[in-house]
Amino acid sequence: MYQALYRSFRPEVFDDLLGQEHIVKILQTQIETGEVCHAYLFCGTRGTGKTTTARLLAKALNCTGEGKKPCGRCPECRAIAAGEFLDVVEMDAASNNSVEDIRSLRESVNFPPVSGKKKVYIIDEAHMLSSQAANAFLKTLEEPPQDTVFILATTDPNKLPSTILSRCMRLDFRRVPEKKISESFMDVCRKIGVEADPDAVALIAANADGSVRDGLSILERCIAGSKRLTRDDVLFLLGISGIDTYLKITDRVIAKDSAGALAVLAEVLSEGKEVLQFTKDWVEHIRDLMLIKYSDDPQNMINLSKENIERLREQSDRITIKEISDMITVLSKLINDARYASKPRVLLELAIIEMCG
Ligand SMILES: Nc1ncnc2c1ncn2[C@@H]1O[C@H](COP(=O)(O)OP(=O)(O)OP(=O)(O)O)[C@@H](O)[C@H]1O
Ligand SMILES: [Mg+2]
Ligand SMILES: [Zn+2]
Repeated sequence: MYQALYRSFRPEVFDDLLGQEHIVKILQTQIETGEVCHAYLFCGTRGTGKTTTARLLAKALNCTGEGKKPCGRCPECRAIAAGEFLDVVEMDAASNNSVEDIRSLRESVNFPPVSGKKKVYIIDEAHMLSSQAANAFLKTLEEPPQDTVFILATTDPNKLPSTILSRCMRLDFRRVPEKKISESFMDVCRKIGVEADPDAVALIAANADGSVRDGLSILERCIAGSKRLTRDDVLFLLGISGIDTYLKITDRVIAKDSAGALAVLAEVLSEGKEVLQFTKDWVEHIRDLMLIKYSDDPQNMINLSKENIERLREQSDRITIKEISDMITVLSKLINDARYASKPRVLLELAIIEMCG
């Protein structure tokens, strides 16, 4: 059966988790020493591993395998991963947010674990609990039953009453660094038999904006069943102008050909590209030219393939540092002004004429 990437690549052990080292460290110490809290609050932006980590903690608390917990292989770990373990209850507060739902939860809490060591309740989207439900739940938190752990996950902790917040150990999930995402995605591609260019994967990671799930879903759409993934596939899907466009328009500016540069711009904008985004990406391109001019090893600083770095190098040889600095000054001012302008396109056209003049 077909499974979305973000379902098939769910971490089974703590080592699989990207980023969040600060959280893993705390949880692992607590698991080793047996000093686990009664209630946790996992906060943070979407797709950074809150639900995943809640399941990992549930597994670790019930794992019967050897070595580091969770082992990911024992019957308990497997049953939890499959959602078939009776003592781990997942509840989506977005759809079960009534007082009755909480009441039945409170009743079930009174029974000891069926087969596991700890009962674990994972309450996802906890900020969606109605205020009555939250109040009912608070009573449970006030007299926490033995051998029970609550894990509340939310993107929006400010919506939870402070009475609940103060009874939970709060852990904040951070956005996952681009580099970690792209390294892991190269691995994912290898595992599913897709030959991916590193600069294609790096571009996806940059657009994931710290969310592994968003990244996986972009990756999946870019691959779309093919066995090969190039930077152009990604650019096409994301609707970003490629390096060709920036090389072309910069060439026209270097040649002081304002009509030519304006024509490139018109073409780009007709494809639906936004003025501000285009300008920002153009500044990035010029910055890359500058880095290449002054670095022997630009590959480390620039997210591009060898071939494209060569094309940049060729262009950087034809532009002076004074020209680079003038262009960056003009375009940066434009980025600032464009925020308040009703017709940012006109500003960009004027800027182009100024740079060519
Ligand atoms: N830190 C991470 N390391 C590895 N994979 C991750 C991480 N975060 C998210 N993922 C991937 O994204 C999928 C969804 O993650 P998860 O459900 O844990 O996110 P979440 O933080 O609970 O998001 P939401 O706020 O939308 O509920 C996982 O199955 C996994 O494939
Ligand atoms: Mg979640
Ligand atoms: Zn296990």
